[in-house]
Amino acid sequence: MRSEQIFRIIRAYDDPVVRAYCWLRFGILRQRFLDEIGQYLPPTGEVLDLGCGFGLFSLYYASIAPGRFVRGLDLNGRRIAMARHAAARLAIANVAYRQGDARDVGGSGEYGAAYMLDIVHHVPAASVEPLLRRLHGCLAPGAPLLIKDVDARPAWKRWFTWTLDRLMDPWTPVHYWPADELEALLERVGFRVHRHLMVDFHDRVGRDRGLVGHMGASDGDVTRRRGSRAGRGPSV
Ligand SMILES: C[S@@+](CC[C@H](N)C(=O)[O-])C[C@H]1O[C@@H](n2cnc3c(N)ncnc32)[C@H](O)[C@@H]1O
Repeated sequence: MRSEQIFRIIRAYDDPVVRAYCWLRFGILRQRFLDEIGQYLPPTGEVLDLGCGFGLFSLYYASIAPGRFVRGLDLNGRRIAMARHAAARLAIANVAYRQGDARDVGGSGEYGAAYMLDIVHHVPAASVEPLLRRLHGCLAPGAPLLIKDVDARPAWKRWFTWTLDRLMDPWTPVHYWPADELEALLERVGFRVHRHLMVDFHDRVGRDRGLVGHMGASDGDVTRRRGSRAGRGPSV
């Protein structure tokens, strides 16, 4: 069972705060989220996880596809150490972690995919365009860049995420991009954008309450964009 795999990964962390965060995060995002992101990742080749945190997602995506090699990068050295420790404990060998700034990422077409899960809102707004340009250069022709982030609306979801961000890292700056602005920026940089609206925990609650129409209109905070190098990659 793939969800058993994520539970194994969570149990590989010693820190109870990290485990609680992972439970909360996975409780909100769930297996469906992992599958929705995962369907775009190539089964082989190098994949970049920028802002990988403790490695929850990179460990998962590496463990379900042994032919894939996931490279995790994060500013926070303590989180990188935890990710390495969990990888060793789980004997997951097709993953590597490095402490560093995503804005310094370099390469020339060697990566088969890259993803950024809830990191764009932590990057200073003026640095996002140069970062995306560098990423465009790192990716192989047609390779996807997946961005999942929090939309600026609705406000209550933004505040919920803001509270979570503050609890985990009180000093981190945050800027939540309106989805349309980020989409326009990706296109300017040369990505072709596919917006993938995701069902999240809140939407499920909403649907149970018969708010499908409302949720459909406001489902912007858990979105995923797929960019491929303009004119060369397949549409999704
Ligand atoms: C909300 S956490 C998300 C972690 C992970 N992607 C996940 O979904 O569990 C944001 C992460 O981005 C990292 N981060 C923020 N700015 C960064 C940057 N410029 N370069 C690399 N990592 C960064 C933070 O240290 C933090 O671990």
